[in-house]
Amino acid sequence: MVRGLKRTLYRAARNLRHPRRLVEARRIRAEVAGFLGGDAVLRGYERELEASGLRNHLLEKGREHAAAVGGSGHSLGAIGYAEGGYLYAIYRHVTPAVAVETGVANGFSTAFALLALQRNGGGRLHSVDLPREVGRDYEADTFYEGEGRAGIPSGAEPGWLIPPELKERWTLALGRTQDELPPLLDRLGTIDSFMHDSEHSFECMWFEFNEAWPHLRDGGLLLSDDVNSTEAFPRFAGEQGRKPVRLARGMALLQK
Ligand SMILES: C[S@@+](CC[C@H](N)C(=O)[O-])C[C@H]1O[C@@H](n2cnc3c(N)ncnc32)[C@H](O)[C@@H]1O
Repeated sequence: MVRGLKRTLYRAARNLRHPRRLVEARRIRAEVAGFLGGDAVLRGYERELEASGLRNHLLEKGREHAAAVGGSGHSLGAIGYAEGGYLYAIYRHVTPAVAVETGVANGFSTAFALLALQRNGGGRLHSVDLPREVGRDYEADTFYEGEGRAGIPSGAEPGWLIPPELKERWTLALGRTQDELPPLLDRLGTIDSFMHDSEHSFECMWFEFNEAWPHLRDGGLLLSDDVNSTEAFPRFAGEQGRKPVRLARGMALLQK
């Protein structure tokens, strides 16, 4: 109760400081609601998410992460909670039987996707991740040099913060998406959704979108974080003649 009130007051103060951001956030919310078929549908999924307790779980794990990696210059590298809520609503709405994603790190966005699959009562999420463990030395060219600073605590597995009971619908392939994604997609055949959140270079994003798209069923979704970091997403949307639906300033989806 007190925490909820604090959050409301914090948001109100932030909105007063950044009125343009508030307008943009409202527009994005309207786009998501429009995609789902109305604000009431979105609110229904948001209520479900709140009742799940995932928010408090993630807050607690976020604090554990900060304590474990604090001062290293690494972060959770995660999408925001509002975007996580939109992601949850979208996975609930499209009820994917076969979902694929790249970029897990600590598992923040993956947790929202898996919670949705659990509530759907069906579906499997296949993820690919090349984790960066804080404090470990890597060859100079292991990670794209423009890569963000998402890091997992020393000795942890990618997705360590996902509630264990959600992991039964999850398969994780460790390695570079450039190596792991094509054989995974060939094995799966047709997929219902694909989400990019791994290496945000133009080459990698372009590669992933072009690999995933032919495997998506008609009506399937291609989602991406960091859509503004390179030309890849807008160019791909243009080539496919699809209008993006935004989920955040830097996150959007295309429907095939
Ligand atoms: C931005 S983080 C993912 C954040 C996560 N989706 C979330 O919201 O919590 C990007 C992840 O992709 C990994 N990564 C970087 N380059 C990669 C590559 N070439 N192939 C696969 N994963 C990669 C990073 O190490 C990191 O674990």
